[in-house]
Amino acid sequence: MCGIVGYVGPRDAIEVLVGGLKRLEYRGYDSAGVAVIGGDGELATHKRAGKLGVLQRDLVAEPLPRSETGIGHTRWATHGGPTDVNAHPHLGDHGRLALIHNGIIENYAALRDELAAEGYTFASETDTEIAAVLLGREYGRTNDLVGAFRAVVGRLHGAFTLLAVHADEPGLVVGARRNSPLVVGLGDGEQFLGSDVAAFVQYTRRALAIGQDEIVAIRPDGIELMDFEGRPVQGEEYEIAWDASAADKGGWSSFMAKEISEEPDAIEQTLLGRLHDDGVDLDEELAPGIDDDVVRSITRILLLGAGTASYSGLLGKYAIEKWAGVPVEVELAHEFRYRDPVLDAGTLVVSISQSGETMDTLMAVRYAAERGARTLSICNTQGATIARESDAVLYTRAGPEVAVASTKAFSAQVIALYLLGLHLAQKRGTLGAEETRRLVADLRALPAQLQTVLESGGEVRELARSMSDTRSVLFLGRHAGYPIALEGALKLKELAYIHAEGFAAGELKHGPIALIEPGQRVFVVVPSPRDRNSLHPKVISNIQEIRARGAHVLAVAEAGDVAVLPYADDVLRIPLAGPLFEPLLAVAPLQMFAMELAAAKGLDVDQPRNLAKSVTVE
Ligand code: G6P
Repeated sequence: MCGIVGYVGPRDAIEVLVGGLKRLEYRGYDSAGVAVIGGDGELATHKRAGKLGVLQRDLVAEPLPRSETGIGHTRWATHGGPTDVNAHPHLGDHGRLALIHNGIIENYAALRDELAAEGYTFASETDTEIAAVLLGREYGRTNDLVGAFRAVVGRLHGAFTLLAVHADEPGLVVGARRNSPLVVGLGDGEQFLGSDVAAFVQYTRRALAIGQDEIVAIRPDGIELMDFEGRPVQGEEYEIAWDASAADKGGWSSFMAKEISEEPDAIEQTLLGRLHDDGVDLDEELAPGIDDDVVRSITRILLLGAGTASYSGLLGKYAIEKWAGVPVEVELAHEFRYRDPVLDAGTLVVSISQSGETMDTLMAVRYAAERGARTLSICNTQGATIARESDAVLYTRAGPEVAVASTKAFSAQVIALYLLGLHLAQKRGTLGAEETRRLVADLRALPAQLQTVLESGGEVRELARSMSDTRSVLFLGRHAGYPIALEGALKLKELAYIHAEGFAAGELKHGPIALIEPGQRVFVVVPSPRDRNSLHPKVISNIQEIRARGAHVLAVAEAGDVAVLPYADDVLRIPLAGPLFEPLLAVAPLQMFAMELAAAKGLDVDQPRNLAKSVTVE
């Protein structure tokens, strides 16, 4: 994980670095640090355990010299605890060189032994310091930062984005990447580096994606891109679609509150230009990687993701199987590739990832591609590694998601999967024209319906506040309500540190009902009473079973569902929608509930403990 920023140019480097780190703090926030080359040609660094704010306060109290070259880092600890000493940057070449790192250097122990045998010593417990010392040794031999960098990256195994500066080469930041993200921001007389474009989007909207195993050197007047052997590489330039204000809180109490409020827009944007009255149009986006021949030849689909993204996959499965008749499996990306899965050219592997950088998901995509499967990614971040490495990409257009707990990206992922389901159905002729038109209308209605759900925020807040002492909450759902139960429980765990479990309501009697004791709070996502599969009466029976054992029932139910009233202690209402669309309305109150409960407990809603948004280590 970790967030990385680099800058060369006429601005005050510290200001650019700290501003960039602020926007990347979602990637990790247990310590932070910066290194700059001052006008006096000396390297100056400062690093501190704790969130970025701690470092910021220090930099105000004891400013570093003004500088036009620097690197900055915000950390999510892997090797070595979150201490001042383990924070990045790490130094080499007698303190004249600074290096920051995102990832894990797998062969660090062997390298450390090699360096120790030569008399080098280490201050920290990190794998990163090994790379810094190694780079220092190489610099001593070459006096050339780019050349030394090339020598070092060739010796490292594992995942890394590295940036380095040397006091003897002001106006130069060198970076490299393997299996971890790094993007260049192209400016006029200045250049930027960042783990993602949020780091520099306030200064430039021109970005350049750096490929796997590539090195980049940025200088104020331009950039140089090469592979690990030093051969020049042509980068792929693109325009960043967001503006800087999209990544600001804009008056909301937290990024999460802002991002929940943006869910209707995330859905609307993700539908934009892809729907017409009679169906969907994804041809241009999916071809040439996934053309009509491929679509017709698919025999099954595997949906892969981690965390919230995997729950969107569960909803995708219901929709794709129902509409397109293709068998779909959903699997956690980190489980998938360790079990010898059966893959062939008829398998379409669809990865789902907000960041497009989650290591578990990326590795699963690579594994699938190596074994001959077609790969499609559903991704929210333009130019992300998973998107670039897939045969085709269907972007969700949720805009930047900063809060660690995913909200609007989830809704947009479900929408993208539904669009994919309709696309497959259309190409394979499995849905009637009338049914398709009805589904298109349902999709179009969603943003306005969701807006009305968000307006009930006050009610959810009251409920959350009344439950701030609760120690355990269960979530039940059936069919499309089941993934929502899982997501509701995950949100509560992540944000409020409360024990929470999501279950399929039908599973209750097979075990979980033993957990019910008087006062146990249970959220139930109640299906519509209009449901043709008559799941509604079954869920009402489930509610009665837990009520009989003393449970306190909080129902999320359709407006007008009076049958639920005698059995629920509290009811949160959602508008009438089709069975596969209800979940998109039911998830919002559960997201708001977790957020409000965390806030009521005085917790940091945007940056929950121990988590990071983009998990770029396995
Ligand atoms: C982390 C985040 C989750 C997110 C998951 C997958 O665990 O804390 O909120 O759902 O990663 O992230 P991705 O970027 O691949 O969607």
